[in-house]
Amino acid sequence: MTSTLPAVAGTAQDGAPLALELSGLRKVYPGPPEVRAVDGVDLAVHPGEMFGLLGPNGAGKSTTVGMCTTRIRPTSGHATVMGLDIGAHAARVKRRIGVVTQTNTLDLSLTLEENLRYHVRYFGWSGRASRDRAAELLDRFRLGDRRRAFPEQISGGMAQRLQVARAIAHRPQVLFLDEPTAGLDPQSRIALWDLVQELRADGLTVVLTTHYMEEADALCDRVAIIDHGQVLVCDRPQVLKDVHGAGATVELVLQDPASEDTVARLEQLGGVTTVERTDDGLRLFGDDHDGLLARVVAAASGAGIRDVSVQGSTLEAVFINLTGRDLRE
Ligand SMILES: Nc1ncnc2c1ncn2[C@@H]1O[C@H](COP(=O)(O)OP(=O)(O)OP(=O)(O)O)[C@@H](O)[C@H]1O
Ligand SMILES: [Mg+2]
Repeated sequence: MTSTLPAVAGTAQDGAPLALELSGLRKVYPGPPEVRAVDGVDLAVHPGEMFGLLGPNGAGKSTTVGMCTTRIRPTSGHATVMGLDIGAHAARVKRRIGVVTQTNTLDLSLTLEENLRYHVRYFGWSGRASRDRAAELLDRFRLGDRRRAFPEQISGGMAQRLQVARAIAHRPQVLFLDEPTAGLDPQSRIALWDLVQELRADGLTVVLTTHYMEEADALCDRVAIIDHGQVLVCDRPQVLKDVHGAGATVELVLQDPASEDTVARLEQLGGVTTVERTDDGLRLFGDDHDGLLARVVAAASGAGIRDVSVQGSTLEAVFINLTGRDLRE
């Protein structure tokens, strides 16, 4: 693993508190069957960082976030948020964090405005300050004209924006987003990415879980790839791709699903390491750019190629190289 851990728990080398530090964090759900959901995770997230936990379904992302946000009690190990131990100082930790969980937790009996206002009231804000804050956030998150609506009356994208607005309403320092864009249409997903990047520009530390490699790559300063409750690698996306990735990824869009023969022919091509099926064709990972595209096109010429594109390495290729599996399997 390539992340650097500080000498003193919860602090960086310069003595300033880390936004988040996990050491030997473990969660075993009692069985039967017993599940080692998080199996000895060490991570350090610096203030202002946008940090990604990338992994397939069941990797342990939500359990990790659940422990960091005091919702799930660790079986063993430690975690600190802004230097505060999550077990010993849970109440103080809660004031410093904002959380968007994987499932919608908006209060369905309250309007959008009330969801925000009551949230900050809970954190001790005055009536006036909470009204002002709700108005400011509704405006900023483009929800102002729906402030009297109820959560069930708005779109999934709007509901997700409201959840983020609520999570930052009490001005936390660290924001946890667990699969914030799962189930959103592409347009809402991009709108949410923009929002998260704005928050980050304001200095907020963001910890984001996702199983979308593009999301982790595009948004995060550093990414930890997690599988079976363990961190496989942790570094900047570009470093991960350079060190662990394939040389190139070729996307083939085909008229019809590729035959087994075509797949076998492509798998045997020199320079091709993996071939996988996509919704509309095939994706190939190769260890070198050189002449790869021409060889692939020649080998797949009988398969009705509608489009073809080649790009450098991806985090998906990193995951495949490390585990032999696909992120979506
Ligand atoms: N309350 C629970 N009791 C028992 N097992 C659980 C519980 N919650 C999660 N698990 C198991 O722990 C493992 C990790 O689950 P977790 O939800 O943390 O993964 P994840 O990476 O968030 O997955 P997803 O992408 O599906 O959200 C899985 O095998 C899951 O089935
Ligand atoms: Mg999850």
